[in-house]
Amino acid sequence: MEVRVFDDAVSLGRFAAEQVLEAIAAKPDAVIGLATGSSPLSLYAAWAELARERGTDLSAVRGFALDEYAGIDPAHPESYHSVIAHEVVAPVGLTPEQVFVPSAEATEEAAEAYEQAIAAAGGVDVQILGIGRNGHLGFNEPGSALDSRTRRVALTAETIEDNARFFDSAADVPTEAITQGLGTIMDARKLVILAVGEAKAAAVAAAIEGPVTEAMPASIAQRHPNVVYVLDRAAASLLS
Ligand code: F6R
Repeated sequence: MEVRVFDDAVSLGRFAAEQVLEAIAAKPDAVIGLATGSSPLSLYAAWAELARERGTDLSAVRGFALDEYAGIDPAHPESYHSVIAHEVVAPVGLTPEQVFVPSAEATEEAAEAYEQAIAAAGGVDVQILGIGRNGHLGFNEPGSALDSRTRRVALTAETIEDNARFFDSAADVPTEAITQGLGTIMDARKLVILAVGEAKAAAVAAAIEGPVTEAMPASIAQRHPNVVYVLDRAAASLLS
């Protein structure tokens, strides 16, 4: 496992974006796993900028989002369908057809279809991840099976509280989601895990230095052969 610590969001984002661009340089039809949330925003900005500067051909790249709220209208501005469209597809310069997001219907069939779509694309080459304050990856909350696959899940009160900033109030945050499982995430050939800010420091330290346990979902990444943590100083502050 590699741990890289940066002083500012721009250098952090550029380093993380280079992981994605390296994969695309090696394989123009690379499959990139896409996280939403605040942590990867500097990566998406740098990906867009560097690809433009270098004239990188992104036309064969495919993207798969990690998760989506269950029951949300995909047209809702905070659905991950909308967020991926505004924060990844448009700025990076992909087309909507290149990027897949799990169905908000969140049925067993939708979950199975998503697993099949990832497999049919040849699997994920680089999975971009954020980490929750409680150590979740995707919406795999503490207690998720370490070999779980894409499925419908309940969100914890902490996650609902954290995501209330995107909605009018906590009461408006969907209480369930569909998420790639920890087993699905672990199948990616490379994991790039971003964390920014002091609020993530305890989860980052436990995930990297603590035991591998369902109580700390991100700890499963210790078993991945190709993982890089991309942190700012605050998120890295509790590492020994
Ligand atoms: C997003 C996701 C979540 C976030 C995590 C961190 O698709 O699945 O696991 O990555 O909650 O969120 P931010 O980056 O907003 O702190």
